[in-house]
Amino acid sequence: METGSTLAAVVLAAGKGTRMKSDKSKVLHLACGKPLAAYAVRAALELGSSPVVTVVGHQAETVEKTLREQFPGAPLSFALQAEQLGTAHAVSCAKEALSSQGFADQGRVLILYGDVPLVRLETLQQLIDAQAKSGSPIAMLTMRPPSPKGYGRIVRDAAGNVSRIVEEKDASEAERAIGECNAGIYVCDAAFMWKALAATSSKNAQGEFYLTDLVAAASVLARDRVTAAPVAIEVSHLEVAGVNDRAELAMVAGELRRRKIDALMRSGVTVLDPARVWIDDGVEIAPDATLYPDCALHGRTKIGKGVEIGHGVVIIDSQVAEGARILAYSHFQQAEVGPRCVVGPFARLRPGAVLREDAHVGNFVELKKTTLGKGSKANHLAYLGDAVIGDKVNVGAGTITCNYDGEKKFVTTIEDGAFIGSDTQLVAPITVGKGAYVGTGTTLREDVPAGALAVSAGKQRNIEGWVANKKAAKKDAK
Ligand code: UD1
Ligand code: CA
Repeated sequence: METGSTLAAVVLAAGKGTRMKSDKSKVLHLACGKPLAAYAVRAALELGSSPVVTVVGHQAETVEKTLREQFPGAPLSFALQAEQLGTAHAVSCAKEALSSQGFADQGRVLILYGDVPLVRLETLQQLIDAQAKSGSPIAMLTMRPPSPKGYGRIVRDAAGNVSRIVEEKDASEAERAIGECNAGIYVCDAAFMWKALAATSSKNAQGEFYLTDLVAAASVLARDRVTAAPVAIEVSHLEVAGVNDRAELAMVAGELRRRKIDALMRSGVTVLDPARVWIDDGVEIAPDATLYPDCALHGRTKIGKGVEIGHGVVIIDSQVAEGARILAYSHFQQAEVGPRCVVGPFARLRPGAVLREDAHVGNFVELKKTTLGKGSKANHLAYLGDAVIGDKVNVGAGTITCNYDGEKKFVTTIEDGAFIGSDTQLVAPITVGKGAYVGTGTTLREDVPAGALAVSAGKQRNIEGWVANKKAAKKDAK
C-alpha cells in the first residue's frame, strides 16, 4: 500500500458511451448495484491514491454527484473535459487538480478508465511496484484479446522492449497483425507525464491527442539511456475488459456478482445455488447466513449472523438482524428486522417498517412506516400503516389501520399487550391502551382505554325460515 501523498490517480470518464444508446452517461449505468465508474475510483482509493481525480465531460455534474455519494469523505477531485479530444487531452485536464496537490514534479500517477471495472487490486499493485523498481517513467498493462481489432498494438524493438503503441487506425498491416494490445492502464512519474503530455499532438488518423504517445516518449528516453525501457505487464483480457454496450455491461456485472458471491461464501455465508442469487456489491452478510435460490439482495442491505433468506425473497436497502428467518417470496424496502424475527412467506415491509426482536409477520401482511414491538405478532392478512405497535401485541387476521382520510395520514397507536381481534379496522388517529381487547369485526373510531374490551358490531339477529320463504316468493312470482 502506498502512503497517501506519493500516488495519485486519474480516472477517465468523460466519454458519452454512444453504443449504450442511453440518455444516461455510460459510467453511471449500474453494474452489480454500483455505478460503473465507482469500481475504478474504489480501486484507486484502496491502493492509497490521493487525490483521485475523475475526468468528467458527458453529464459531468451527475457523475460527480454520484461518485461523491458513493465515497463520502474520500479524497476525490473532478476535472472537466468539455470536449473529448482524446485520452492525452483528458489526462491534461486533470493537471490543475493534481499539481495543486503536489503532483506537479514529483509523485506517481495511476491512470484508469471509468468503464473498466474488473481490474484486480493485486494486478494494479503489481503494476505500481514494477514501475517503481524499473527505473522507467511508465508502466502499462497489456493483453491478448481473441480479436485485437480496435485496440492499440504494442510495438516492440529487436531487443523486445516496448518502443511505442500504435492505434488500429494508424497501424500498418504488419502492425495490425500484432496480438499484444494496450489495456489503457498506466502508472507514470508525474514530472515525466506532464512534460510528455505537453508534447503530444493530434496529427494522427483520428485527430485526437493520444495518451499512448507517452510510451513512445519514454522509449526515446530509454534509447538515449536516460531511463530504463517502458514496463509492460500482460494480464488476461477478461480482467481489463471495457464496457461499450449493454451486453458487455451485463457481462462485467455477472463477473462482479460472481466475485461478490465467492467472497461471501469464503467468509462463511451459505449460498445454496450461487448461480441463482442476486447480491449487489454493497450488500453485507454475516457468517452462517443461508441464502436460498432466487433471492435478491440490493443496495445497502445488511444481513446478520445466521439469518435465513428464503426462496425468491427480495430485500432492498434494508437491515435484517441475527437469527431472523425470512420466508419465501417476501419483499422488503428500507425496512429493519430485529433479531430472531420470523417474516413471511409473502410479507411486504415497505419504507419505515421496523420489527423489534422476536416479532412475527406472516403471509399477506403489509407494513409501512410502522413499528411492531418485541414479540408482537401480525400473522395473517393485514395492513399496518403509520402505526406504533408496542410489545407482545397480537394483531388478528384481516386487521387494517385506516391511516388515510383521502387527504392526510394519521397515526395508530397500539400499546403493549393489546389484543386486536380479527377483521378489525382502526380509524386513525386512534389509540388502543395497554392490555385492551378489541372484539372480532370491530370498527374502531374512538380510543380504547387500557384494559377495556371494545366491540362495535351490533347484536346478531337470526331470521328463522328466511331461505325457504324467499324461494317460495320467487316461485309465486313466475
Ligand atoms: C484507448 C487507447 C488504446 C487502448 C484502448 C483500450 C489511446 C489513444 N488509445 O483507445 O491504445 O487499446 O484505449 O481500451 O489512448 N476518454 C475521455 N476523454 C477522451 C477520450 C477518452 O475521458 O477525450 C475516456 C473514455 O470515456 C474511456 C477511456 O477514456 O473511458 C478510453 O477511451 P476510448 O475511446 O474507449 O479508447 P480509445 O481511445 O479508443
Ligand atoms: Ca477513441
